[in-house]
Amino acid sequence: MTAGIDDIAIYIPRLYIDAADFAKARGVDPEKLQKGLGVSQMAIVDTNQDPACLAANACLKIMQKNKLSPESIGRLYISTESSFDESKAMNSYVIGMLEQVYGQGAFEHCGGVETKFACVSGSYALYDNANWVRAGEAEGKHALVVVSDIAKYDMGTSGEMTQGAGAVVMLINDKPRLLAFDPKVTATSIKDEYDFYRPFGKETPIVHGQYSNLLYMIQVRKALETYKKKALASGLMKLEAGESVLDHIDYLNMHLPYSNMGKKALAYLVRHEWRQLPRWKKIIQEIGLPEPVPKDPRGTIESVLGDQEFMAKDHEFTKLFTKTSEFQEIYESKLASSLIASKMIGNLYTASLYLGFRSCLEFEYQRGIDLNGKRVGFGSYGSGSSAMVFSGLIQPEYKEIVKDMNLEAELAPRRKLTLEEYEILHENKLTPEESMLHTKKEFILVNVNTTVESMGERRYIFNE
Ligand code: HMG
Repeated sequence: MTAGIDDIAIYIPRLYIDAADFAKARGVDPEKLQKGLGVSQMAIVDTNQDPACLAANACLKIMQKNKLSPESIGRLYISTESSFDESKAMNSYVIGMLEQVYGQGAFEHCGGVETKFACVSGSYALYDNANWVRAGEAEGKHALVVVSDIAKYDMGTSGEMTQGAGAVVMLINDKPRLLAFDPKVTATSIKDEYDFYRPFGKETPIVHGQYSNLLYMIQVRKALETYKKKALASGLMKLEAGESVLDHIDYLNMHLPYSNMGKKALAYLVRHEWRQLPRWKKIIQEIGLPEPVPKDPRGTIESVLGDQEFMAKDHEFTKLFTKTSEFQEIYESKLASSLIASKMIGNLYTASLYLGFRSCLEFEYQRGIDLNGKRVGFGSYGSGSSAMVFSGLIQPEYKEIVKDMNLEAELAPRRKLTLEEYEILHENKLTPEESMLHTKKEFILVNVNTTVESMGERRYIFNE
């Protein structure tokens, strides 16, 4: 049975900081953010928003747009790593908010859980819900899979340049208008790691930035290896001599902690895939340097990062490789459009990959490309660490959804924060009533209880 993404909606908070203002305040060259990381603006939540609000606002959008009744939703899953409760699942909060609009008990039948595995958990939730549909358990109902996060790092750290916030919701069913998942190819890799983690009670993560960059690429490459084996074994793909699996994927959507990470990851995966192929010889000639190899043949992540001579040479080689016409062609045709939204919004952790998918659809459609039947490959990564690679085919009805996508319009009106305002928000100095904006027709947080008997209870309203 077919299963896939029928529609997709986003909710992005309306406050943002500008990369140039931010760089100036931190004494960093603005080019490092804009060109080096690919960050132009970072969305920031107001005092009356939390990840549950973002998720509920996204759900309301998709339900209203598709005129969905609560009865037609069989499951509601939320994936997040910005959870504020160790026990109560975020989908319960979201259902509470939605019932303020649809009536008490309207979602009583609707099962679901909150899933966690850093940024990859949304992909696991998507896979599980697709399998619920494939198993025939959905009985004509839809699943809502929501990915919602606030990417927040300590002030003054290098992670602070890669913040953002927002939610993406995907409507999953057996007649998807956007994308049908390829069956029997979903591939995962997993390893106990400490590249990025957030211990109990801490609002911001502990991050080993460069380690996390490399680990992301290694883990996705491992998952891609498994994907390749499955795609060949299942007959989904047949490789002719000199071909790579990437030749059979029209668009690549990668997890985007910052937009240039997509490009970095693409370069890494392409090098890995092309190295064994006849085309590599010509590329090496064009680069004019041999591909560097680390001193330690075990090639562990620590030994690679510790090998400074190799790292410097590899950095230079990668820079030259990304300038070759062969790389430029694959970058422009398969990846670039997915990076546009990330530059304007920043890291959304679990939601980053799917914001990238949304971006790819909108901007490829605007280029006038017929997307029907194109294969989209997804490279999902979550710290801690796990990767998932899967793919799907764009469906004939995609235009029904994509023609109305307009990121600029959806983000407007946005308000630019001064650095002073941003820092006040970052340090949680204001209460929900002291919000910077007064939005209408949105769910907002009004109170977090501080009494001993009801500590942490949250109250939300739909702001009419
Ligand atoms: P950094 O180490 O300060 O930056 O922080 P850098 O020195 O690596 O510079 C970044 C890029 O800017 C480099 O480009 C520089 O050359 C360039 P590259 O070599 O990579 O091509 N650059 C400049 N370009 C133009 N003009 C200049 C200039 N200066 C430098 N003047 C880092 C970067 C990502 C490490 C940091 O922001 C960080 O720690 N972020 C958080 C962790 C993160 O995002 N990791 C990504 C992989 S792990 C992941 O994706 C999982 C995650 O989403 C969490 C989860 O799963 O839950 C984070």
